[in-house]
Amino acid sequence: MLRKITLIDNDIPQLFARIYKGPEQYDGDCRAESILEERRPSLLTLTHNGERVLKLIKPRTWHEYFKLFWFHSRVSKEIKGNRTLASIGLRTPTIYEAGISIFPARDFRYIGYYCMENLSSAGYQEVYRYYKSLDDNSELRARITENLIHDLLEMRRHSIVFSDLHLNNVFADEQGKICWIDTGIIKFRSDSSARFRKKYDQSVIRLLDFYRSEKVMTDQEKQLVRQQCLFSDQSGQK
Ligand SMILES: Nc1ncnc2c1ncn2[C@@H]1O[C@H](COP(=O)(O)OP(=O)(O)OP(=O)(O)O)[C@@H](O)[C@H]1O
Ligand SMILES: [Mg+2]
Repeated sequence: MLRKITLIDNDIPQLFARIYKGPEQYDGDCRAESILEERRPSLLTLTHNGERVLKLIKPRTWHEYFKLFWFHSRVSKEIKGNRTLASIGLRTPTIYEAGISIFPARDFRYIGYYCMENLSSAGYQEVYRYYKSLDDNSELRARITENLIHDLLEMRRHSIVFSDLHLNNVFADEQGKICWIDTGIIKFRSDSSARFRKKYDQSVIRLLDFYRSEKVMTDQEKQLVRQQCLFSDQSGQK
């Protein structure tokens, strides 16, 4: 089915082919109401009176347009990742609908979109922000770290590597419950394959090194993640 999405700076709606629609979801107009984040890889806007977040994915290279045809685009990958993580018991935002761009369109700014639950309205915020604002020895902080490690170990048990692992892609609520966004993942056949172990460790190490110039996690928190999550013994390192 065709889907028209009206953007903020352009009255001409962008046309997409809807590839997923949740059961009994509202079927009216979809209008971007205000910009939440404008990023190089995507534009995030609020929609449905702020209750939902619309993620419009930008092409990074020309061949991304062609990936759309065999469902290998970043749109399909993030949706599959969202479902796979939910299927192993991890929390991800509810996705209400998704679509891919129609080729060839005149104003081809986005390769696709998906519309999901607004986590901020559901009482969540980025773990990055929690770590920046909470006291080093706050109880909530400890619970978030514990739950983060739990989720990373669940991914490890199911041979999943979370591609873009950093703390702006992890949300938590006031009880410390974790929710995962931007869910590009790689699923391996077995957690004993050397390739999986290497990739998994690389993504965890990347998380620990991500915010080099600012203090986000404490050394103690990093040590906990390192000791509990990594396959290879790197516990001596900072
Ligand atoms: N469902 C949501 N609810 C609330 N805020 C959200 C939601 N999805 C995304 N955001 C906000 O928008 C930001 C960017 O989203 P996202 O990580 O999906 O985009 P991206 O373009 O893939 O970003 P990057 O590649 O830089 O990580 C998030 O860090 C978060 O602050
Ligand atoms: Mg992100």
